[in-house]
This record gives sequence, C-alpha cells and structure tokens, in this order.
Amino acid sequence: MLSRIEPSATMDKLRIEGGQALHGEVGASGAKNAALPLMAASLLSAQPVELEQAPRLMDVHTLGELLASMGARVERDGSRLRLQADRITACEAPYERVKTMRASVLVLGPLLARFGHARVSLPGGCAIGARPVDQHIRGLRQLGAQVDVEHGYIVASVPGGRLRAARITTDMITVTGTENLMMAACLADGETVIENAAQEPEVVDLATMLRSMGADIEGAGSSRLRIRGVSELRGARHRIVADRIEAGTFLCAAAATRGDVTVRDCVPQHLDALLDKLREAGAQITCGADWVRLRADSMPGGRPRAVAVRTSEYPGFATDMQAQFMALNCIAEGAATVTETIFENRFMHVQELVRLGARITVEGNTCVVQGVERLSGATVMATDLRASAGLVIAGLVADGSTCIERIYHLDRGYEAMEHKLAALGARIRRVS
Ligand code: EPU
Repeated sequence: MLSRIEPSATMDKLRIEGGQALHGEVGASGAKNAALPLMAASLLSAQPVELEQAPRLMDVHTLGELLASMGARVERDGSRLRLQADRITACEAPYERVKTMRASVLVLGPLLARFGHARVSLPGGCAIGARPVDQHIRGLRQLGAQVDVEHGYIVASVPGGRLRAARITTDMITVTGTENLMMAACLADGETVIENAAQEPEVVDLATMLRSMGADIEGAGSSRLRIRGVSELRGARHRIVADRIEAGTFLCAAAATRGDVTVRDCVPQHLDALLDKLREAGAQITCGADWVRLRADSMPGGRPRAVAVRTSEYPGFATDMQAQFMALNCIAEGAATVTETIFENRFMHVQELVRLGARITVEGNTCVVQGVERLSGATVMATDLRASAGLVIAGLVADGSTCIERIYHLDRGYEAMEHKLAALGARIRRVS
C-alpha cells in the first residue's frame, strides 16, 4: 500500500523568528523533479521499478495516487518506492489529479508507448505562467500518435499499436517535454532523434534508469538525444539523483543568514551556476565529491554583495532558484537585477518580499533589487513552491517574527524543510 503523506492542512503556517545564523550539516533528499518522471517511467514495464531516496513530498504522493488509480501497485518502504504496472486497468489521468500537479502529464508518453492509448487532462495554467504542453503533443504526433484535444482532455491513440521513430526538434527547451518524448521513443519502432533536448540532471537521471531497464539511449546531458526503440523494457532499481534545488535553497539560506553550512549527499557540479553567483556574493565555498560547504560568517563588509542573475536552462542559473537568490539580494550590499527568462509570471514573491521591507521594482521580466540592511518580520503568503522557499529565507534574516501562510506549496517540493532548518539552528516551527 502507498503510505499516505497527508496533505498539510491548508491552514498550516510557518512561524520564523529571524536573525539566527545557520550552522551545521544538512543532507539533500532525492530530487522531486527526478522522482516524478522516474515514477511515470514505471508504466513502461510490467516488471517492478524500485526507487531509492524517494522524497516524502506531496507531489510524489499525488503521482503515486494517480498511478494507483490506473491499476499500478505503489508501495513505500521507508525511503524506497516500489512501483509495478503489471495490471493497468485505466490509461487515464483525470482533471482532478492533473490540476493539482502539472507533472501528471508525464504519464502520457509512457501510456501511449506501452498501451497505445491514453486520455490525460490538459493541465491548464498555473501560478508561474501559462505553461502549455503543445511540444509534448507535437512530438507525440511526430512519433505517429493520433492526438486530439476534446473537452479539456488530450485523447491519444496509436494506429497500429506501436509508435514509430521520428526526428523531433522542439521549438523551445522543455524539461518534461523532453522526458515525455524520450520515454515514448524507448518503445517506438526505429531510431528517434530529439534535438534541442533539455540537459537538466533530472533528464539525465531518467535516461540512466531507462537504460538500466533496457532502453537504448545516447546523448543524455546534451542537446541531442538518440533513442533506438526496443520491444519491451524490464524492471530496475535506481537511486534518485540528489535535489539540486533543495541543496541550493539551503546554501542561499546559509549565505543570507551569514552562516556556515555543509550540504551533504548532493552533486556539487549540478550547482555550478549557483555556486559561482554565491562566490561573487562573497561566500567562501568548498566542495567534495558529494558535499558543498558554504561559509558566509566572515564576509568582507559583513553583508553579501548584490549579484545579478538571469535564469536559463541547465547548465545556466535555474529558474527554480530565482526566488531564493532574490531573497539573498534583498539584504545584500548594493543593487542587482534578477531576470526571469523561463516563466512569464514568476515574480509572485516580490510583493511579499516588499511586505518584509525589501526594495524591489519590477519592469517586465526584470526586477531591480536594492539591498537593504534589514528586513522586518511580517505575515506573508506563499504563492508557489519556490516563491515560498524565497520567503522562508527572507524570514530567517528578518527582524522579529515572520509568519508564512499557505505552506502547502512548500510541502509539494521540500521534505521536512522546517526540521532540516531547525537542525541548523533556525527558530522555525509549523503551526496548524
Ligand atoms: N513550454 C511550452 N510548451 C511546452 C512545454 C513548455 O511553451 O509544450 C514552455 C513553458 O511554458 C516554459 C518553458 O517552455 O515557459 C519551459 O518549460 P518546461 O517545459 O521546461 O517546464 P516543465 O517541464 O513544465 C520543469 C520543472 C519545473 C521547472 C522547469 C524549468 C518538473 C516536474 N518541473 O517544468 O519545476 O521550473 O522544468 O526548469 O520537472 C518546481 O520544481 O518548482 C518547478 C516548477
């Protein structure tokens, strides 16, 4: 049975008494954005897929429930998730589930590839932007699927039962789009090439597991994927790659509070773009094979320097780190721009940061952040996952008490965040 992760009551809040520098060690969990496609990939085989280091997150739970509703067996044993899709009874992802988590669309490629039909709700818009899935649909059509959008659903089928290979060039770089098409191509007839592919570590992690399931994939981590279809895939056991965004969030929190924190169980290379910016801000950074230590307790001038960032696809500066880095810039010396190029509406945290005393002006997709010496605690509202993480960092440095409402957003993507931060010395607690 899937052990339940109860949704945090929508009234749950985080209360933070700011001003405590973070010190000590913290471990990164398995990555949410790797866990979700890996779980969807279990639909490609009748044999079991075992995922180690599966984070206890609301999004993982939601996808587990969706797979179970299709007939898959989903079991959790500690940090191990076991999925087996040997008795799929419904190739359908209903609106009620997809609307709570867009990544549900990741079941589309695997369902079409293995069962030849699927009915998946269109995700609709979300807080950070419109986020269409046209590239997923276009690529699947190129692989021979017949795809219609009817009554809010993507209704797809494969004439003849088996997808056929194609050369696909996506119009823009899309992470879940690349993952969906890569999974579909694994069981297609012939050799598929995906150009303009996403190079994120989570895409590489998916390719790694697919290969251990018997898929023939080359080029993962580059912009060209070459996939030779096979007739079936076997099960696999796979350790989920570390969450670079969670790790990066702790590092930003350490820098903002002028602390000294070591993040264990992470992949430092996956954090390169962020680490460069943190060094520019004045932090001292040392890395080992699977850890990063950030010291900001003896920064010249006592405050971090403001540093300009511009989000881009991997290996550039991640959009998922933008809000957290903005929080750091809020208390830095000087002014810097923060430019968002991936999502058109990912500045929802700005007004909340301003409520904490930040000085930020927004012009189009660029914010100018003028650092201030101190923020002051207030009640603020989380609007999406990473925005919430930015507010937590701001709360950790603000004078007095900060209350963050609607933290169910945070529970979608951060495992036990308040416990991990408290272990580093933060005064933070969840109140119901
Ligand atoms: N896009 C299209 N059409 C498509 C697909 C994407 O126009 O068919 C656009 C999007 O609207 C966006 C851009 O292309 O402007 C890039 O979107 P992408 O498809 O790469 O995003 P995603 O796959 O939906 C994943 C992560 C996000 C992360 C982005 C960018 C997962 C489950 N989600 O989303 O994670 O921000 O890539 O790196 O992997 C988060 O964890 O908080 C989060 C939002």
